[in-house]
Amino acid sequence: MKDKLKSFFTEHWNYMAVSTACKLGVFEALEQQDLNPKELADCLNLQEKQVTMLLNVLRNIDFLKEENGMYSLSKKSLLLTENHPESLKYACLNWSGEHWNAWQDLEYSIQTGASSFTKLYGENYFDYLNNHPDKLNQYHKAMYEYARDDYKELPNKIDLSIANSVIDIGGGYGAAISAIKTFYPNLTCYLFDLEKVIDKANKKDVLTLKGNFFEAIPKVAEVQILSRILHDWNNEKAAIILKNCFDALPKNGTLYIIENCSDKIAIDLSLLSLNMTVICESYERTSVEYIQTVTSVGFTFESDIKLNELQTILKFKK
Ligand SMILES: C[S@@+](CC[C@H](N)C(=O)[O-])C[C@H]1O[C@@H](n2cnc3c(N)ncnc32)[C@H](O)[C@@H]1O
Repeated sequence: MKDKLKSFFTEHWNYMAVSTACKLGVFEALEQQDLNPKELADCLNLQEKQVTMLLNVLRNIDFLKEENGMYSLSKKSLLLTENHPESLKYACLNWSGEHWNAWQDLEYSIQTGASSFTKLYGENYFDYLNNHPDKLNQYHKAMYEYARDDYKELPNKIDLSIANSVIDIGGGYGAAISAIKTFYPNLTCYLFDLEKVIDKANKKDVLTLKGNFFEAIPKVAEVQILSRILHDWNNEKAAIILKNCFDALPKNGTLYIIENCSDKIAIDLSLLSLNMTVICESYERTSVEYIQTVTSVGFTFESDIKLNELQTILKFKK
């Protein structure tokens, strides 16, 4: 028991080693060819001794294979190379850096209920990203890597066969709306997000719109999707976004909210909720809480649909 505890205290060093290897481009270098520590250190302009330590750690946790001093990629690290079609490189990078720094002051968030990220960086998470283009791109690539997997089944779960147009509000780099467009090729699909996000988003076959959902949402579609948006904001801010959704929808229009509803799944969301508090003064709510907030601006709740092990779709009508 004591030994297990002692190793638990430093388990996070493993993740730091993996995300550092991602940052340094170790996996891309080894994708080209197997290398020994000296060759890798020369190739990436690093210190041979420290590279040896890093490679050994990565080997010990199955992120690399080693034979006669030569290191090569394993199945895990192959998924952390930039151009792999199922790459999770940016998802891996996302939880280090600023995210990690904010977690260091979890104590503050638990004492105050406020975001330690905002305390540390002096602005809210999305404003910070907007002011740091590299971080913005890294975050959205990470979100895309999750979304690419999470929204595969979305077009099968919501019936858009008689709709003419749909808008994904805060749709990031466009994974969900692209999946919908592929399934419903005749549907007019809009991707709406902040200007700097849209500039780099996947625009294939979808129309893009730039703006701020706290100001106004374009009146272009009779179906709206708001996925993983409300959980980023406290109730007050969430109500502003929802009011703007309501104003932009025609009568009888449909709003789909997609969130991790803690009462609808078997997985405990407390750790994710702590993360939401640390980063953006929020938490993973129950479907009852979402329904209450959404209906308070005038929507009528219709039904809930399970999207996957984590996410639930809540359907509302105007
Ligand atoms: C957690 S991500 C969700 C992305 C995507 N919907 C998904 O489910 O993967 C939150 C999204 O809200 C967008 N966003 C944040 N503030 C915004 C604002 N004021 N106006 C429009 N979009 C905003 C972000 O750029 C980001 O794409």
